[in-house]
Amino acid sequence: MKKIIITLDGFSSCGKSTLARQLAKELNYVFIDSGAMYRAITLYFIREHIDCNNTEQVKRALSEVNLSFEYNPLTGQSDMYLNDENVELLIREMVVSERVSEVAALKEVREFGVAQQQQMGIKKGIVMDGRDIGTTVFPDAELKIFVTADPAVRVERRFKELYEKNPAITIEEVKRNLEMRDYVDSNREFSPLRQAADAVVLDNSDLTKAEQLQIALQWAREKMLG
Ligand code: DC
Repeated sequence: MKKIIITLDGFSSCGKSTLARQLAKELNYVFIDSGAMYRAITLYFIREHIDCNNTEQVKRALSEVNLSFEYNPLTGQSDMYLNDENVELLIREMVVSERVSEVAALKEVREFGVAQQQQMGIKKGIVMDGRDIGTTVFPDAELKIFVTADPAVRVERRFKELYEKNPAITIEEVKRNLEMRDYVDSNREFSPLRQAADAVVLDNSDLTKAEQLQIALQWAREKMLG
């Protein structure tokens, strides 16, 4: 079977990362959460008080950012590292979610992210999830999946996830953040969220995790044989 590149794109909280992670595990492929990279950059920008309108500051900050993924034997997953610090939990916090779309929309940030992501796919055998993976990062990927789900289902899922860590969070807050990110991610000038013309759509509103995995695995095996 040949090694391929699998991309998963879609709106926030569609279950892309969960599916991408499971798919990579089943196929013995490397999973890459591209959103984690933009989140780590955003955390650095917040800490360093970087002004997104100041290109020189943005460029300098990016030259100071070193991103890597490292396997965590406790969870069996890869954690995001920012300049050798494990930031996996910090980057999921609301303060980062509120700023990430703004930071990820910057031309310099996109060039930085896309170049590193393309490098990670050189040997193929990867599953990468994000917004522009099938369109900009790997336009020639063998399998492109565009994941969608009903907006109310997405809010509910994201709320449950965040509530476990922070019971003070409200459903309105989550809804507002998702709507804002959907808008900014789809309307930005560079690498906006788009469904690639040759992507297959997976609407998982009414699917269990196991069911969506089976569908994606079937698609992947067809491409790996082809
Ligand atoms: O997948 P996520 O919600 O963790 O992504 C966080 C943010 O990063 C999201 O609001 C948009 C941005 N992002 C992006 O612009 N391009 C990607 N390939 C992945 C994420």
